[in-house]
Amino acid sequence: MQILVSKQPLELVDAAALIVPVFQRPEGGKEVSGAAAQLANEKTGGWIQELLDSGECGGKLLETALLPRPAGLAARRLLVIGAGSREKFGPTEMRKLAGTALRLLKAKKVRQVALALDGDLAGLAFASAAVEGAIAGGYEPDRLKTDQKAKDDQRVESFTIVGAGGEIQAGADRGRILGEAQNFTRDLVNEPGNRLTPTALADAARQMAVEQGLEYEVLSADRMKQLGMGALLGVAQGSAEPPALIIVRYKPGQSNSKAHIGLVGKGVTFDTGGISIKPADGMEKMKYDMAGGAAVLGAMRALAQLKPAVTVTAFVPTVENMPGSRAQRPGDIVTSLAGKTIEVLNTDAEGRLILCDAIEYAKRLGCTHLVDAATLTGAIVVALGHINVGVFSNEEGFRQRLLDSARAEGEKMWPMPLDEEYKELLKSPFADLPNIGTRWGGAITAAMFLKEFADPTPWIHLDIAGTAWNDDLKPFLAKGPTGVAMRTFVNLAMNWKD
Ligand code: BES
Ligand code: MN
Ligand code: ZN
Repeated sequence: MQILVSKQPLELVDAAALIVPVFQRPEGGKEVSGAAAQLANEKTGGWIQELLDSGECGGKLLETALLPRPAGLAARRLLVIGAGSREKFGPTEMRKLAGTALRLLKAKKVRQVALALDGDLAGLAFASAAVEGAIAGGYEPDRLKTDQKAKDDQRVESFTIVGAGGEIQAGADRGRILGEAQNFTRDLVNEPGNRLTPTALADAARQMAVEQGLEYEVLSADRMKQLGMGALLGVAQGSAEPPALIIVRYKPGQSNSKAHIGLVGKGVTFDTGGISIKPADGMEKMKYDMAGGAAVLGAMRALAQLKPAVTVTAFVPTVENMPGSRAQRPGDIVTSLAGKTIEVLNTDAEGRLILCDAIEYAKRLGCTHLVDAATLTGAIVVALGHINVGVFSNEEGFRQRLLDSARAEGEKMWPMPLDEEYKELLKSPFADLPNIGTRWGGAITAAMFLKEFADPTPWIHLDIAGTAWNDDLKPFLAKGPTGVAMRTFVNLAMNWKD
């Protein structure tokens, strides 16, 4: 989809459809608010006023009305879309609005779409969110469907932002980078386990790094053996597919920052559970167990183009968790790269085993701040549902900065506790640590396990098990992978201060 910016007067915009956001009127209010809506109302002889009066489209967020052949406008259709209340309207609402409008028009086989931005909504953040929303909204997880015509019929060719603000172009550029990075992440997550093996994920990362001018390196199983990554290798040994530790580096041209951010993403290309095998029902979804790794790689793709002033390195430990004849057994004790011994009580708690070695390696490579993203526990889904990412950290100030980034990017995240008391739940009579706690607080004991390896480096853990996959389609997002955490990573690096 081509992203364009136009400063043309709205009535002259020659698109197949022109999207005009309309705000809800305050109680008893009669006016159409917003410059674009007012102008469109005037040109169409009061259509928008009529929609509002009749309640057919009262301006409620994401409510829509599609008008064909609007008199007075060059566009072939006018899509009026509710923007909700003016006070509550921010980039997050804009992202959803643009996504919803695009999905609706795409389904109607509209090819050229334009969105009118009011003067005061024409800043960088709003323009970026609109383009992000449109690009993400246009995504369908149907890459492997072979009916090309059906897919071509629903392909929007261009998305034009119409507005006069000076920062619209910069916002549209940023939005394109982020939207494309999000879909890159989603494409990786959506790939099934037979196509996306650890080797294939490493190849995809290399290809991305080469295209974006980033440094790429991969540690093979042999290299991991030499180093002593026993925890990661223990998970990998049940599969015929060799594991990998993917490393992608971004270095700023010039920077006064002494910080080195390490982004660590869980890359289990398929999680059967291993010998502690999962039930068959729903197991197919476990292809998304590399969503953390994909989010980290998507963030690197965006950062290569946005060029923050801080060093960022991505680490993606990738394995397939299988119950093969060489698989690790419950009760096995492995020695991690950090030297700690781990009793593997449940082979399905594999994410923390690969992450602990990657975290230790990131520390050895000089990372001063660590953030990991992982589809780590079913327990976080019990705790927070599919709405919020669980955020765990060993440093409050750092955690707050990440939460601020998440909020700015419209990615819902919620702080979770990591009191020392939870450590009591991680005791093994035979090794330094077991890989699981008790029945209770499963997301917290998983995070506590990682903390044992991250300390004392400032570290944040994002449990994205409930948020990386969209079970029911939303008006602005297709069913399937969401790409969550990628934008928050990008925002954190772009706004970095030592
Ligand atoms: N990948 C799963 C976590 C998961 C569960 C992600 C559901 C998405 C949806 C992880 O490897 C896992 O199996 N965790 C276990 C841990 C348990 C054995 C302590 C879980 O949550 O059941
Ligand atoms: Mn598992
Ligand atoms: Zn897993």
